[in-house]
Amino acid sequence: MKTVILFYSRTSKTALVARTLASEVGADLLEVTDLVDRTGPWNYLKSSVDAVRENKTKIKPENIDLTSYGLIYIGGPTWAAKPAPAIITLIDQCHLQGKDVILFATMGSRGGRQVIERMREKTEARGARMVSSFLLKIGNHSYEEIIEEVKQTVQDRDLPLYGI
Ligand SMILES: Cc1cc2nc3c(=O)[nH]c(=O)nc-3n(C[C@H](O)[C@H](O)[C@H](O)COP(=O)(O)O)c2cc1C
Repeated sequence: MKTVILFYSRTSKTALVARTLASEVGADLLEVTDLVDRTGPWNYLKSSVDAVRENKTKIKPENIDLTSYGLIYIGGPTWAAKPAPAIITLIDQCHLQGKDVILFATMGSRGGRQVIERMREKTEARGARMVSSFLLKIGNHSYEEIIEEVKQTVQDRDLPLYGI
């Protein structure tokens, strides 16, 4: 069975994590786009409220066929100590019965642990089994630093051992 990394990224940090991860563990990559405008200060506030309330959003692609995948990574940014709405919506639209999942979140400083916990609850409710998870505190780290942190996490958590 193959491995896929599903991710949402507003400002491309989680995207960098996902791309680095995909090349380190040999996985396919699928980016989920949020069709709601999340730019600007007003939308930042609204996005935090959406995250806290777990408001659904419109994502693209709408349907993701996971039949050929045994291991699924799901990752996104921390918003107000919650998963971004695109991640909540994505999990609710995926068929995860019998799948192993590895969950990850990026964050500026704090709240990521609650994000993983909520993603775990939601994926397990859909029949998945969380086999690992990790958080990346990105703050204002450079792209090079983020790549190094991902490579270190892959090694520390033995991630290439899953999904084979
Ligand atoms: C609406 C919103 C709320 C956020 N809330 C948090 C938070 O509670 N804790 C935190 O550490 N970072 C928070 N952040 C920062 C992002 O989690 C962080 O910058 C993340 O790595 C960005 O990932 P991305 O570039 O893939 O979108 C927030 C960002 C946005 C846009």
